[in-house]
Amino acid sequence: MAIMNIDNNNTNHHNINNNNTNKTHILEVKDVSKIYGSLHALSDVNLTVEEGRWLSIMGPSGSGKTTLMNIIGCMDTPTCGSVHLDGQDITRLSLSELTKIRRDKIGLIFQQFHLVPYLTALENVMVAQYYHSMVDEKEALQALDRVGLAARAKHLPRQLSGGEQQRVCIARALINYPKLILADEPTGNLDEANEEMIMKLLHQLHEEGSTIIVVTHSPEVSQHAQTTVVLEYGKVARVVNNHID
Ligand SMILES: Nc1ncnc2c1ncn2[C@@H]1O[C@H](COP(=O)(O)OP(=O)(O)OP(=O)(O)O)[C@@H](O)[C@H]1O
Ligand SMILES: [Mg+2]
Repeated sequence: MAIMNIDNNNTNHHNINNNNTNKTHILEVKDVSKIYGSLHALSDVNLTVEEGRWLSIMGPSGSGKTTLMNIIGCMDTPTCGSVHLDGQDITRLSLSELTKIRRDKIGLIFQQFHLVPYLTALENVMVAQYYHSMVDEKEALQALDRVGLAARAKHLPRQLSGGEQQRVCIARALINYPKLILADEPTGNLDEANEEMIMKLLHQLHEEGSTIIVVTHSPEVSQHAQTTVVLEYGKVARVVNNHID
């Protein structure tokens, strides 16, 4: 697939959109740095992402991908700079306000599945509902059905394969129809068939209007995104358009 470098200005600001729409920006990252002692995990990162976009983030191990996702996902705050999510500055909020935004607007999918080991697949999905004050077994079952796991609803995580556990996580992330889906190496531990199933689900969500940001080491997974952002040493090294607009 042909790729083109669209980062050809000198402003160091990376505008992730397709230029001919008036869509709102769901995400605006401005001059964000995350500094641990003398280590700059992120260094002056600028990114603007319009609503409904599918972005992938690539880059070597240690380049700051997870650090950036944690900040966008309201799980961490930057040392300096600002992040606007859906118009709101999330860098000026308390922990409880961050938690609320995370619940209301973000669906998180991790490489490590973070399922509660003693709860069934169905109960794990219902935990997410609990946080949204809307526990509804029928709806949780529908979410599992959506990821092809209705028949596994009563199984515990250890009775599920890695791919199945990842799909439970996706069902859980989808429960409140999040505007923004953040996935950090969602296919990292999976075989090809499961990877394909996860990518199919992400495509469905994207078609339904979700903005998707996927961190991956896999060029194949990255190619599903409209735009790829490459991080190196905590900076945006380049932005490539995957030509699937
Ligand atoms: N809590 C922390 N304290 C100190 N250093 C940290 C902390 N979290 C991350 N780092 C450092 O910040 C840098 C970026 O880490 P990050 O986890 O964002 O990398 P990554 O791009 O996600 O790598 P990988 O591909 O291996 O997951 C690394 O050098 C890491 O050691
Ligand atoms: Mg990481």
